[in-house]
Amino acid sequence: MPEQLSDIGLVGLAVMGQNLALNIADHGFRISVYNRTTATMEKFVAENPSTPGGLAGFASLADFVASLKRPRRVIILVKAGAGTDAVIDQLVPLMEQGDIVIDGGNANWNDTIRREKALKAKGLRFIGSGVSGGEEGARFGPALMPGGDFEAYKEIEPVWNAIAAKVDHTTGKPLTGAAPGKPIVGGVPCSTYIGPDGAGHYVKMCHNGIEYGDMQMICESYSLMANLLGMSAGECGKVFAEWNTGVLDSFLIEITADILQQKDPMTGGFLVDYILDTAGQKGTGKWTSVSALDMGVPAATIAESVFARYISAVKDERMAAAKILTGPKANVDGDRKAFIQAIHDALYCSKICSYAQGFQLMREAQKEYHWTLKFGEIAMIWRGGCIIRARFLQKIKEAFDRNATLANLLLDPYFKSEVDRCQANWRQVVAAASLNGVPVPTFSSALSYYDSYRAERLPANLLQGQRDFFGAHTYERTDQPRGRFFHIDWPEPGRPQLEA
Ligand code: 6PG
Repeated sequence: MPEQLSDIGLVGLAVMGQNLALNIADHGFRISVYNRTTATMEKFVAENPSTPGGLAGFASLADFVASLKRPRRVIILVKAGAGTDAVIDQLVPLMEQGDIVIDGGNANWNDTIRREKALKAKGLRFIGSGVSGGEEGARFGPALMPGGDFEAYKEIEPVWNAIAAKVDHTTGKPLTGAAPGKPIVGGVPCSTYIGPDGAGHYVKMCHNGIEYGDMQMICESYSLMANLLGMSAGECGKVFAEWNTGVLDSFLIEITADILQQKDPMTGGFLVDYILDTAGQKGTGKWTSVSALDMGVPAATIAESVFARYISAVKDERMAAAKILTGPKANVDGDRKAFIQAIHDALYCSKICSYAQGFQLMREAQKEYHWTLKFGEIAMIWRGGCIIRARFLQKIKEAFDRNATLANLLLDPYFKSEVDRCQANWRQVVAAASLNGVPVPTFSSALSYYDSYRAERLPANLLQGQRDFFGAHTYERTDQPRGRFFHIDWPEPGRPQLEA
């Protein structure tokens, strides 16, 4: 038994785990760490001899568990999936009634629901917490989305609030400490209890789906500047840097400006011009889209951003197709400055639609899983620490403060007026892209979403006619109350119409 018991423990010392452990220790909590490969743990502890809370490393999982204060609180930060189950299986026999297991990985919410139930049956408590912000966030302040048993959440709340990023109470602006790792004075922590069982991981997944959308929209903006205006990567980067001072101010726009201006150490050209155009992914954007399809939520723009990664991945096929298939030659003249502003507005409107879809998805999910999600709080904790952090999220928070049951962000007066202001440019960009053969899957999908959502009448009347024709699937009538279903004996194909 060690002389001093630790406040919390962490299993899994890859970069995220190491950084989160250091963040916890920086805030005065003593933390025990364990890693499957002992040498990694030993090196980590040796390299960090003086943290305010203290780090204690253990080569045996039993000693690690024994080193923790009761109720024990163990964070697991390993590769999501089977790895998490394997660690839980090893931990369970070593833990006692009331102890708490916290999964900080990018787990699928269904796994979290299953694990919570299984652990509850054994008298243990389980928290599935979204952790966003990458390596830097884990080290100096991530956004945290904990879900699970509320009493168990209360046991980890002081740690979660301490290590999370912080934003200003009124403006929502991210706050920084005197230096990295130095405590931030005041501010609202970017962490809040999300809801029972898988709610935290579900919301984290939606964050990632939105992240996929944001990234693809930024890529489309860059593509339009490069392909229609002939701008160099460096020139595009400067435009993004300027955009980062306005309504699009966000982490992803900021890093895009830097990435585009980065020179290649090998050639001296712009690095981005040498990066192969095939996107990878770990699956959270796909999960978001599958969940939207399962629940009947039209999150088309988010799904398009996943498909855009898929089509980028078939590089060889695209290279072959490029030699066969034809399209227009890009030809845009006119006011370059005005067109860059139009791209800005197209990105802004598309972003509003993508977030509208993400929040609609969460709204449906809460009905499906019996959660009560607080959308204003979710927008607030996404203001700092996470990958999608942006000034824009303050406006979303304010929209849900105005109306907690807002059906769609597009209906909020602020967002409505912003889309009114910018939509002519948005349409111009989508039209120009289409006429010039530049793919803009998320811009055009978002515009179709907007036009569909505001349409009183869509051509689904004909679709219902088709369904009734070949499958007697019935239809409702415009001149009858909803819920009454009709069918007629359609004539055989090619036969004359029925008489009225
Ligand atoms: C975060 C990120 C992170 C995610 C990466 C990569 O919130 O810190 O969302 O969780 O793993 O962004 O995701 P892909 O590999 O799927 O692009």
